[in-house]
Amino acid sequence: MTEANSFSLDVASHPDNVGLARLAVAALAAGAPFGVPDLEEIRVAVSEAVTNAVQHGYGGRRDGRVRIEATLSQDRLKVVVSDQGRGIEDVALARQAAAGEGERLGLGILFMETFMDHVVVESHPGQGTRVVMEKRVPVAALAADGD
Ligand SMILES: Nc1ncnc2c1ncn2[C@@H]1O[C@H](COP(=O)(O)OP(=O)(O)OP(=O)(O)O)[C@@H](O)[C@H]1O
Ligand SMILES: [Mg+2]
Repeated sequence: MTEANSFSLDVASHPDNVGLARLAVAALAAGAPFGVPDLEEIRVAVSEAVTNAVQHGYGGRRDGRVRIEATLSQDRLKVVVSDQGRGIEDVALARQAAAGEGERLGLGILFMETFMDHVVVESHPGQGTRVVMEKRVPVAALAADGD
């Protein structure tokens, strides 16, 4: 694959759209020689980011908007999940495992950081949150791909 491929999806903050986002990103990623475990990791990371937007950003309200932008280039997949919800007061604290609220485990951001090669969480309280995640296409697979 030489040309980059991309999509942008704007969905309601409805829990059903977690699956839609996961499916769409996985379908795009399938255009690169990611292994099956890589694709599963991508699915989990996207699910966690979109779930956070729905549950925390909009507090379960279904009338917010969540944007999922995904770009597949020769060597990496980049996914940006953004919401215009309530934002995060302290991103450093939120990134710590077990920083979740109430009974939540607080593992979502940790999963994103474990499964993706690069994760940036940007947030402005009262304005929203933007999560940028990148995963590199395995070098060996690229070499074998040949084009
Ligand atoms: N899009 C977002 N908008 C507002 N707050 C967020 C957002 N994403 C994360 N947070 C905050 O960061 C915390 C940590 O998120 P993380 O996904 O790691 O854990 P969690 O959602 O609480 O639990 P889990 O993902 O394990 O169910 C959340 O509890 C929430 O306070
Ligand atoms: Mg979470």
